This record gives sequence, C-alpha cells and structure tokens, in this order.
Amino acid sequence: MVDKAIVELLKGVDLFSELKEEQLEQLATLVIANDFARDETIILEKDESTQALFLIASGEVKVFMTGIDGRETILALLERGDFFGEMSLIDGEPRSATVKAVTSAKLLIIRREHFLDLLKSTPELCMGLLVEMSKRLRKSNRQIGSLSTMSVYGRVAGTLLSLVEERGVRIHGTDGRMVTVIRNRPTQQQLAEMSGTTRETVSRVFSSLVKKHSISVMGKDLVILEESLLRDQDLKE
Ligand code: CMP
Repeated sequence: MVDKAIVELLKGVDLFSELKEEQLEQLATLVIANDFARDETIILEKDESTQALFLIASGEVKVFMTGIDGRETILALLERGDFFGEMSLIDGEPRSATVKAVTSAKLLIIRREHFLDLLKSTPELCMGLLVEMSKRLRKSNRQIGSLSTMSVYGRVAGTLLSLVEERGVRIHGTDGRMVTVIRNRPTQQQLAEMSGTTRETVSRVFSSLVKKHSISVMGKDLVILEESLLRDQDLKE
C-alpha cells in the first residue's frame, strides 16, 4: 500500500521535482520516515556504518567539520526540501562531515542500494543531483576563496550574500522599497562557524552593518536593506 503522506513529503524534496507520480509512489515504498530531536547527531564524520540518504521533510540540520582544536566549521545549513548523505553512497568513502539536527526534524531515509538503483534507472534524478552538487561545490569554492583573500568583514558579508542567494525572499520593505528577507536567520554563533571567525566578530560586523543601514534584524528575520554594501570590498568595520 502506498503511503500518500510519504508521497506528499517526497514532492517537497527538490531533488525529486522531475519524478512522475508513479515514480514517487514507487519511491515511497522504499522510504522510512524518522523523527530526530534538536541537537541529535544524524551522521558522524568518518563513520562507515550508516548507509543511507536523508531527505528533510521538516526542520533544519547543520553540516559541519570539527577541527583539531575542537572548533566547528559549518559547511551548510540545510532545510525542508534538501537532502544529504549522498557523497559516501556514491564514492564508497567514509562520511565526509557530521550532520546534526538544529531543530527537531522529520527525515525520510532511503537505503544505499535503493538510492543507487534509482539513480541508474532515472537520468532526471542524476541531473538533479549533479546540479545540486555543482551548486554546493561553487559555494565551497567561494568560501575557500574568501578565507584566504578577505578580511573577516568580507567573510561575514560573503556568508550573508550566500544566504541571500540560497534562501532570500524579495518583499516590499516598510518604506515601499524592495528588500530581501532571510527567514529563520542563522544565529550569530552559526554565522561565525560559517565564516571562520568568532561570535564576537560577527556581532561587531552586524553592529556596523546595522549602523550603515545595510541590514536590520527583526526577530527571527534578517532583512538585507542594501545588498551593494555587502559587496563593497573596501568597507571596513
Ligand atoms: P556524506 O559524506 O555521505 O555525509 C556527510 C554529508 O554532508 C555529505 O554526504 C553531504 O551530503 C553533506 N556535505 C558534505 N560537504 C558539504 C558541503 N560542502 N555542502 C553541503 N553539504 C555537504
């Protein structure tokens, strides 16, 4: 029996947007839904035992690596509609990073052999996967570039620009001008771990950007009022 609720959840996953209803129904029979608590580890870096792909039906997770000094570097924050855990399924290597739930999360889990069979039989899925992996590689390239060439100010600004690109929503601001909103914004600690700096530095950069009317913080939303200021390499704290 096809679980219609799972089919609906699968429809919310970007990777499967090209699949037809019958393909989604078939996939639904191979998927297990599981709830994870906030802060629960889903994938552990270097682990070789868990062999599955994860799709986010609800909630948010962070993908990060831990340095020898114990500091975490966030590679990505992923949310509803995103997937993770594909790399080790494809190349057979240990898990490349740790993935932890940032909020409580409902995940759909597909076993390795089912995912690989699906990839072999569905070219649209391969293309979707390649497109998403290219996007992630581009973002990582930008991060690496900014780590070696930019000031911390530039790195924090670069992280904000990546968020604008990934999940910014254009709306009319209070004065009628168009602004970009990042809903459910990352915390300053998370932004620090995404930019290779400290929370205190992010806080300083934020104060400076607020003073320059480039951003404003409204509860859980971050509003980008003047994107061009974030791109200005000459701006200092
Ligand atoms: P895998 O290596 O199997 O397990 C950890 C997962 O984290 C990995 O697959 C990817 O899904 C995800 N991941 C690793 N690096 C990145 C990155 N730079 N950006 C986004 N996701 C990543």
